[in-house]
Amino acid sequence: MAGNWKMNNNHLEAIALVQKLAFVFKDADYEAVDIAVLPPFTDIRSVQTLIDADRLRIAYGAQDLSAHEKGAYTGEISGVMLAKLGCSYVVVGHSERREYHAEDEPLVNAKVKAAFAVRLTPIVCIGEGLEIRQADEHVAHTLAQLDGALEKIPADQARTLVIAYEPVWAIGTGRTATPEMAREAHETIKALHDTRVLYGGSVKPENAAELMAQPAIDGALVGGASLEPESFAVVCRAALR
Ligand code: PGA
Repeated sequence: MAGNWKMNNNHLEAIALVQKLAFVFKDADYEAVDIAVLPPFTDIRSVQTLIDADRLRIAYGAQDLSAHEKGAYTGEISGVMLAKLGCSYVVVGHSERREYHAEDEPLVNAKVKAAFAVRLTPIVCIGEGLEIRQADEHVAHTLAQLDGALEKIPADQARTLVIAYEPVWAIGTGRTATPEMAREAHETIKALHDTRVLYGGSVKPENAAELMAQPAIDGALVGGASLEPESFAVVCRAALR
């Protein structure tokens, strides 16, 4: 269960939120569920310091990385830098990156490779927009995105990544895919890829249980609800099964 904070929380707010999570989560939660937070870059050092000092069983990662290792790429953050900060995960190809930063399949693929090069686990986001869903082309679209993202990734690496199926029309909109819609996508993906598949798109305390009841849904990539500790805990506990 991963909390994608997006562009929310400065480093002081990040510390406060992780402290609250540490208070809310119990040993039984950590034993049953892998919990991760994905703060903005500027928060990661603070989050690392707190998690290390208190030996919290919360993993953390970033929301993006550069496809390049280092050099003249103003404003970019490399996987090497993230690995050095103890990150375990990095989101790659989130629909907001695809839409607002023109990330296409070759770039997503290069970022997946860059993540693996430094032993970060990529959380590769795929999912269709509303028009594609309405044209009933969502399965082909989603699988094509995945093929592009994973091109020339060796099978032993591909098995270790995390896939997040996030129908774009459900992200931040309050519209969630029905468990049946999510099941179709997840089963299709899992038939081809033996890896963890998270669902994302307006997952919240009210709908987490019915989504997580689907055997093909291994967890969730949670945006809005991950900013509120109690909500995130309820969502995480929906995965206890
Ligand atoms: P949301 O975001 O839960 O706010 O819809 C999910 C995501 O974009 O990862």
